[in-house]
Amino acid sequence: MELKSYPRPDLEARLLLEKAASWETKDLVINFDLPCRADLIRRYKRLLQQRKRGCPLALILGKKEFWSLPFKVKKGVFIPRPETEVLVELALKLPWNERGLVADIGTGCGVIACTIANERPEAKIIATDISRRAISLARENAEKLGLKNIKFIAGSFFQPLQKMGLEHQLDLIISNPPYVSEDQWPSLSREIREYEPKRALVAGSSGLEFIFKLIEEAPVFLRPEGLLVFEFGLGQLNPILSFLEKEGWKEVFWERDLAGIPRAVAARFQ
Ligand SMILES: C[S@@+](CC[C@H](N)C(=O)[O-])C[C@H]1O[C@@H](n2cnc3c(N)ncnc32)[C@H](O)[C@@H]1O
Repeated sequence: MELKSYPRPDLEARLLLEKAASWETKDLVINFDLPCRADLIRRYKRLLQQRKRGCPLALILGKKEFWSLPFKVKKGVFIPRPETEVLVELALKLPWNERGLVADIGTGCGVIACTIANERPEAKIIATDISRRAISLARENAEKLGLKNIKFIAGSFFQPLQKMGLEHQLDLIISNPPYVSEDQWPSLSREIREYEPKRALVAGSSGLEFIFKLIEEAPVFLRPEGLLVFEFGLGQLNPILSFLEKEGWKEVFWERDLAGIPRAVAARFQ
């Protein structure tokens, strides 16, 4: 079997066939007994070759589901990962003013901003990213989902919030930041290195540079009692907890992902 080195070859084969035929799953069931046309076989083989060369399945399909919502994805923008749902879950279960102002820093294709906007329709979300390509894709995703309560702005870190004069206005700051170290980058799979932008994943020599900046600068933009929630990687929990304490953050909560790895942290600044 051509896809046997992937964890779910049967599922991948079905999804690629649906893509080749422009079918949904129900069409595949209905058309199951039909003989395959030569052009469909050709298109299917082309997609199989793309996948075997290491192109991520989500990029071939052009879409990825997150929190049961459909998102368009494309090369050059970070592909959302299922573990980020833990981050969103943590933000949604903790109390904050749900009619208030939220910032998603490093929005990528917009999964976090769109999910929060959908779950908390009275909140106003500002989604930022350094990548204009990401911002335009995130905007397209929000439009397709019919979400009107998100503003998308390109810019680095807190610069867009600063430009808008939002000091001490935010009720929630959420981020899935880059958190891989420079040293780890070469050991990531070819699938990641060739198809996703390095700056979406790598944050300096320790991998903690973006996160530490979030911890240092978020108090300038949060209201009193405002919440900071962010994702992090393997082995980063202890340095993050120490830094949060050193910087004066209180009420710290953290969660593991489905693989049991500590993955998301929330804290209030008082
Ligand atoms: C790990 S990706 C997360 C994307 C998305 N939030 C998600 O969870 O799928 C990190 C994002 O941060 C953005 N980014 C990197 N450096 C940045 C910076 N200095 N300021 C703002 N965004 C940045 C990248 O372009 C990328 O989209």
